[in-house]
Amino acid sequence: MYKKKTPKSRNSYNDSVKIFPGGISHNIRFFRPYPFFVKKAKDKHLFDIDGNRYVDYWMGHWALILGHSPNVVVNKLDSQIRHGTLYGTVNDTSIKLGESIKKAIPTSELLRFCTTGSEATMYAIRIARAVTKKRIICKTIGGWHGFNTDLMQSVNYPFEVDEGVGMTGREGDFVESIPFNDLERSIKLLDSVKDDLACIILEPVLGGGGCIPADINYLKGLEEYCKRNNILFILDEIVTGFRLNFGSASSSYRLDPDLITLGKIVGGGLPIGVVCGKKEIMQVANPVENKYKERICYIGGGTFSSNPLTMTAGYATLDYIGKNRKTIYNKINKLGDMARNGLTRLFSDYGLRTQVTGIGSVFHTHFLSNGVNEIKSANDVALCDNQALTRYHFSLMAKYGIFFLPHKMGAISVVHSERDIRNLMNATETILESDILMEKKD
Ligand SMILES: Cc1ncc(COP(=O)(O)O)c(C=O)c1O
Repeated sequence: MYKKKTPKSRNSYNDSVKIFPGGISHNIRFFRPYPFFVKKAKDKHLFDIDGNRYVDYWMGHWALILGHSPNVVVNKLDSQIRHGTLYGTVNDTSIKLGESIKKAIPTSELLRFCTTGSEATMYAIRIARAVTKKRIICKTIGGWHGFNTDLMQSVNYPFEVDEGVGMTGREGDFVESIPFNDLERSIKLLDSVKDDLACIILEPVLGGGGCIPADINYLKGLEEYCKRNNILFILDEIVTGFRLNFGSASSSYRLDPDLITLGKIVGGGLPIGVVCGKKEIMQVANPVENKYKERICYIGGGTFSSNPLTMTAGYATLDYIGKNRKTIYNKINKLGDMARNGLTRLFSDYGLRTQVTGIGSVFHTHFLSNGVNEIKSANDVALCDNQALTRYHFSLMAKYGIFFLPHKMGAISVVHSERDIRNLMNATETILESDILMEKKD
């Protein structure tokens, strides 16, 4: 059915493999038999080159909280584009966006803009090493912080196997991976490297690792450990920043991280990364006044950093969300609850062992198997019946025009409605009735 509906996409994919390894420019964008090629996107919809329309729950890697091409952003971009796309020097809109972030996130006393989240996390750990003069960084098993070399450890199952094809093989010597949401075991591992430990970096909600919220006591325990031992506590809020509330998850959890990384939503649909944090720490990267009087910690760079288009889109987005924050977060968080509760009930009515994880406006379905009874870690996620998940996501896309990037959590934006969630539920029920999830082939 999918192949019948998408002949032009198949042709484009055939062209694409001649140009790009695997036919794609981001690994996770490939799915079998081939991804549909998008022609345009507006509000909650993606339109492919064959004329099919999809209600999108992938929402640009979860970045598009206002939906695709929202007028509030497009109108501002329309005017900015006529005034320049890249000045290569400083601009006032960056101050507006920076101020909006500062006001919403108390930790962000000083910020640096860059172009991707991967850069932001790379800079954050570099700052941590510079400030503490220690070398080891700690991340969680299954934690995803982008493709920078240091953090390419324990990302994919099996987590203990080196991911470092193309790396020296020594990067792992300076990375300690701890089990997500298991404070006792984490502390034991941290103790073994504490004298050379520069930072702990983790996501408040394991995103790519399976949409699993961190336990508040886990986060607090790690933060306390850092404070006691001169280790920087870094929250990677590239997904959670402005996703769960107007600001960071750290504020709602009453955490006090030293550094926070942001991306996605704050770029308003254009490329961005942000590293921000406490003044005395961020100062290590100040190229103008530097108390260290030696070489500074170089975190600047990036031809496109702070470019006026991204600044404009980001500021328009935060300005709009800020003014409408109550309605927006009430709405999307409520729709998230509706999706999680509704799907959980439905799967259980059909006798399927599943767990629908998530928080606020992000959610993900796991088909429990291999002795996994509860999703607590990325390891549990990896052991689930991922073939069933593929069939589920694929059926939603091919038969019902509902798009989740296969295997990835879904994100609700302000343009989704209760009706969309009901449609998702109805489609899921029809899929369950057809028993397709139990089939052994795609
Ligand atoms: C938590 C987290 N950190 C970092 C990144 C990397 O960001 P980017 O893809 O913009 O490099 C991602 C991307 O999905 C992410 O989810």
